Amino acid sequence: MVERVIIDTDPGVDDLAAIYLALASPELQVEALTTVYGNIEVETSTRNTLSLLELAGRTDIPVYRGAGKPILRQPYFAKHIHGNNGFGGVEAPNPTVSEAKGYAAMEIVRRCNEAPNEITIIALGPVTNVALALSIDPGLAHKVKKIIVMGGAVRVAGNISPVASFNLASDPEAARVMYESGAPIVQVGLDVCTKVRISQENLDRIRVSGTRPGAFLLEATEFRRKAYIVSLQTPETETGVYYNDVPAVAYALWPELFEVQQAFVSIETTGELTAGQTIAEFTGQWGNPEPNTSILMGVDGERVAKRFADCISTLEAQ
Ligand code: RIB
Ligand code: CA
Repeated sequence: MVERVIIDTDPGVDDLAAIYLALASPELQVEALTTVYGNIEVETSTRNTLSLLELAGRTDIPVYRGAGKPILRQPYFAKHIHGNNGFGGVEAPNPTVSEAKGYAAMEIVRRCNEAPNEITIIALGPVTNVALALSIDPGLAHKVKKIIVMGGAVRVAGNISPVASFNLASDPEAARVMYESGAPIVQVGLDVCTKVRISQENLDRIRVSGTRPGAFLLEATEFRRKAYIVSLQTPETETGVYYNDVPAVAYALWPELFEVQQAFVSIETTGELTAGQTIAEFTGQWGNPEPNTSILMGVDGERVAKRFADCISTLEAQ
C-alpha cells in the first residue's frame, strides 16, 4: 500500500538526504513539502526545497512556506553544520517553479481534512508548523494518520544541549503542543539517528551510480562531515556520515527495522538548562498516563544504511 505523506522540512543536508530517500521510494507518495526555519532561515529552506525538487525532476510536488520563527522564542540556526546556504555552500540550481500559494500550517489542515486518517506528516525540522496546524484545527490530532518526528533524546545526549535535540529545543512550546495534542506520534530521536551511519562504502555506491541528485547530495555532505568531525570529534565521521533526518523517512518505509517502546512523552518548556528535553515516562511515577508516543529505541542501522544507498542510487532526475 502506498503511504501518503506531507514532509515538513528545513533543508539542510540531512533533509536533502531524507527527502531524496522518500522520492526514490514508490511506497511513499509525497503530496506536499512544507517549509520551516531551522537549519537556516525559512526563505532559504523554501528555496532549497524548490531546488532539490528541481534537481530530482519533481517540480510537480507543491512547496508551501511555513513559520519563520518559533511561537515564543527567537530562532537560532545550524549554519555551522549545514553551511550558510543550508547545502554546505554547494550551489543548487535556481528553481524554475515558485512556491505554492498558501501557508504550510493551513495546507496541512486542509489536506488532512480532505483525507481523514490517510496522511502521515513527517516532521524533519522544528515543529512550529505542526503545532500551528494542531492549534488552528484541534480536531486535526485525530485526522492525521500519524506524525513521525525527527527529534528527541531519551537514553542518549542531545545535540543542542546535553539533554535536548535541535529540532525540539528550537521551539519547545510547539513541541509541547504537538506531544500533548493526542495525535499519534512516532519519535525518531537521536537514540536511533546516532546508530544509522552511512558508511564510506555506501556513499561510494551512490557516487558510482552517477545520478545527479546523488552527486549533489554527496557534494553537500562534505561540509557537514567536516563540521561533525570538529564538533563531535568521533573518528566514525571521517569515514561515513550521519543524516539525522533519514531514519524518520526510513521508519515510514521499513518499520520492521526499528525497535519501538510506547510511553507518555512531554517536553520541558521552562527549564533554564533543559528546554526542549523529551521526558519519557517509563517509571510509573506520573500515575501511568496513557502512552502518547511510539519511541524508536533501536534500529538495524546497517540495513537502513544499505537500503538508503540502494534507493538514492536509483534516483535519476526525471
Ligand atoms: O540535528 C540538527 C538538524 O539537522 C536538525 O534540523 C535535523 O533535522 C537535521 O536537519
Ligand atoms: Ca532537518
